[in-house]
Amino acid sequence: MNDGGQRSFGPLGTTLVIIPTYNEAENIKPIVARVRESVPEAHVLVADDNSPDGTGKLADELAADDDHVKVLHRQGKEGLGAAYLAGFRWGLDNGYGVLVEMDADGSHQPEELPRLLTALKGADLVLGSRWVPGGRVVNWPKSREFLSRGGSTYSRLMLDVPLRDVTGGYRAFRRETLEGLGMDEVASQGYCFQVDLAWRAVKAGFHVVEVPITFVERELGDSKMSRDIVAEALWRVTSWGLGSRVSKALGKER
Ligand code: GDD
Ligand code: MN
Repeated sequence: MNDGGQRSFGPLGTTLVIIPTYNEAENIKPIVARVRESVPEAHVLVADDNSPDGTGKLADELAADDDHVKVLHRQGKEGLGAAYLAGFRWGLDNGYGVLVEMDADGSHQPEELPRLLTALKGADLVLGSRWVPGGRVVNWPKSREFLSRGGSTYSRLMLDVPLRDVTGGYRAFRRETLEGLGMDEVASQGYCFQVDLAWRAVKAGFHVVEVPITFVERELGDSKMSRDIVAEALWRVTSWGLGSRVSKALGKER
């Protein structure tokens, strides 16, 4: 990671807020309304995996009334990482300058997005961070906080990334950052996608800034976090970390 000190950063361009959804029927309309209100100039892309509860149809209703709202309908549930990769490609193909990741369930407050975008004026990637001073979580069970803090710490040590919240999912990328990350080689399907991208950004020398956020646990619907998602994250992070240590020991750069 470079310090960004001597760099000058170009203008930001139009923002696309990507909201991946799987069974978020109670949440989709309120979250899109909050984004539209907080950052009226931004566009929204709902990336729905053919949710059985009809979230995709509700998103279509929003899009019919508002030309700032778009919907990407995907065939079926393929994981958070796959949904974001498809959303990023759509956004890059359509010329957006800033691509934002945001959960549909209200955990990532749209009212905090202007702060992330302000920070992006002097950065390549901004992470909304729960684990820097000023960041916090509301209504999380201790078990979930333990998992998240543990996952972040493990990733930071295993991968040597100087970041506090490596697994978080509230982020703003400049398009050039996504173009320089090697997105096409990302295989992570579940939530370890977040670790994958943060690590890639650091390795590529991008200036990554953490901005404190208040993460509010969802009130409606269910988390899609599962044992399989944790297992994928654990084995991938471990194998990346070991692989990069072996490469370093052999004197190769990775
Ligand atoms: N399209 C699609 N496909 N969307 C999905 C999928 C999927 O397979 N799985 C989850 N989502 C959507 C949800 O509908 C929601 O909008 C968002 O992704 C986050 O899912 P949650 O199930 O609410 O995640 P969480 O609250 O447990 O986890 C959050 O914190 C993690 C770190 O602790 C998320 O922000 C994660 O990205 C983050 O890694
Ligand atoms: Mn959630």
